[in-house]
Amino acid sequence: MTSQIKKIAVMTSGGDAPGMNACIRAVVRSCAYYHIECFGIYRGYQGLIEGDFKQFNARSVHHIIHKGGTILKTARSKEFRTKEGRKKAYKNLKDNKIDALILIGGDGTFTGGMVFYQEYNFPIIGIPGTIDNDIFGTNYTIGYDTALNTVIDAIDKIRDTASSHSRLILVEVMGKDAGFIALNAGVGAGAEEILIPEEKLGLKRLLQSLKRSKRSGKSSSIVVVSEGDKIGKNVFELADYIEANLPEYEVRVSVLGHMQRGGSPSCFDRVLASKLGVRAVEMLLDKKSNIMVGFLNNKVVTVPLEKAVKGKHAINEELLRMSDILSI
Ligand code: F6P
Repeated sequence: MTSQIKKIAVMTSGGDAPGMNACIRAVVRSCAYYHIECFGIYRGYQGLIEGDFKQFNARSVHHIIHKGGTILKTARSKEFRTKEGRKKAYKNLKDNKIDALILIGGDGTFTGGMVFYQEYNFPIIGIPGTIDNDIFGTNYTIGYDTALNTVIDAIDKIRDTASSHSRLILVEVMGKDAGFIALNAGVGAGAEEILIPEEKLGLKRLLQSLKRSKRSGKSSSIVVVSEGDKIGKNVFELADYIEANLPEYEVRVSVLGHMQRGGSPSCFDRVLASKLGVRAVEMLLDKKSNIMVGFLNNKVVTVPLEKAVKGKHAINEELLRMSDILSI
């Protein structure tokens, strides 16, 4: 490989996700392997603007592959959305003689990277890291698999108590505007109903389905509700609505919240993070930039950053159909 790249910086940005540390480790160690200097930028774009950089070597990232969160910390920077903020960021990169930037994050992170590339033509590679799995051009984002396992574990426990009390429990899961976590965890946990933003089930159909469940002899139920679901009510109002219309149900709500973002990454996420981290460095050495490295159909692939930002990762409709069959 021939290249002018001598110094790479890596950062995590947006919501943290299990596996980000494994990815940082892969980037730092690949740089060491290829004799490139590597800098970590703390607190995402905010640290980039404030010059919060530190030089890393292969040993700086020992014993982090199994850790949740991100050793580089993360932030959602408002300042980077301004031209002035991006100007400061560019100056810091130039002052530190950094040749390229690897961004680990979700769509907000990639949008920032795309704008920055357009303004300064600065070499950038994106690595998809978010529990939401809502990035186009990759079947999986780093953190999604671990989050699914966390949600399944929580729902299994919730089911124990739902069953003991013969209750209906609405479990709200994360996912911003996407239903990947709800749909897959819902099928995996055997939920009676799954509400996701991609499908407009409607209140009427939800009530019908719950009535059917009761008639079929079920004494307890789990309904997984994606936080971005557009059924027209938040999860607490939805609980009140169900109780008002179906008095035979005693309803409770469980919002899983930020526990979904924590914990030790699954083996799948560690391996995915390692593959994408290595490939990101190799792409820069190969003079490629303004792309995302993803994992599609069992292969590490690259996608133009703009496509990753603007494309829509579609949910698997077949899973929805299956869930209807299996919750009979
Ligand atoms: O993007 C990851 C995510 O956890 C979403 O699922 C959720 O909507 C959002 O971040 C919450 O963000 P914050 O922790 O900043 O409130």
